[in-house]
Amino acid sequence: MQPILQVESLYKTFDSPNNGQLLAIANISFSVSPGEFLCIVGPSGSGKTTLLQILAGLLPATRGQVWLAGAPLTQPQPEISIVFQKPNLMPWRTVLDNVLLPLQIQAAPAVEAQRQGQEVLALVGLSEFAAAYPKQLSGGMEQRVAVARALIQQPQILLLDEPFGALDALTRERLNGELLRLWQSRNLTAIMVTHNIREAVFLADRVLVLSPRPATISAEFAINLPRPRPKGIEYSEEFGHLAYEIRQAIKD
Ligand SMILES: Nc1ncnc2c1ncn2[C@@H]1O[C@H](COP(=O)(O)OP(=O)(O)O)[C@@H](O)[C@H]1O
Ligand SMILES: [Mg+2]
Repeated sequence: MQPILQVESLYKTFDSPNNGQLLAIANISFSVSPGEFLCIVGPSGSGKTTLLQILAGLLPATRGQVWLAGAPLTQPQPEISIVFQKPNLMPWRTVLDNVLLPLQIQAAPAVEAQRQGQEVLALVGLSEFAAAYPKQLSGGMEQRVAVARALIQQPQILLLDEPFGALDALTRERLNGELLRLWQSRNLTAIMVTHNIREAVFLADRVLVLSPRPATISAEFAINLPRPRPKGIEYSEEFGHLAYEIRQAIKD
């Protein structure tokens, strides 16, 4: 199968005002298959967010190339959506209007947009909160709105940057289960950055481990656990073994 995304010898350097150049990413290459769930783990400050922003077309690479279905990716594409670490909702807009923002920017027909907005809100279980404002929502609900906003353009690829990192463990667990159901039902390709190893094992088909900055790929693990993930799989021996192996591969 042709990869949906290919990353080829990617480098990213930032200009830093005090000490010249900061090398964030050094020679990263990997491919992602259509429908795959890929997790990227690595120590804090290693370059995970930088990598995801390049994949979203939001940040130019210094060297190397990203290919989307065989075409060079140099700017944001409707096929690719990103969910950031913070929900970034506009407090003066209702939940529905926050979700509709990407369509309104494109001046999509209003009636059709409303229908799509209701549809993605239903997908994330927030139909009843369409008219609510962000301040009326819990942290978990705010991140669900951010996921709905990312889905409104019907992307093929969903990028997620530690989307549930600020939430309590139980909420995070629930949202990860919901995310897997969405990924499956919408045939998405998902690439999620996290520093939570168990979360990566639970979600992914494959886990890439990044080294401390500059980020290189230091290890790769195939996660051959059954789908849909059975209840309680996090407590199985196989799961624990995988999590341990990945932990050993992270040099922080
Ligand atoms: N816009 C920027 N300008 C300068 N340095 C940056 C910029 N963005 C990120 N960095 C630096 O690049 C490194 C990697 O950052 P980041 O990708 O956010 O790491 P992570 O998401 O793994 O915690 C850090 O040292 C960070 O300070
Ligand atoms: Mg980050």
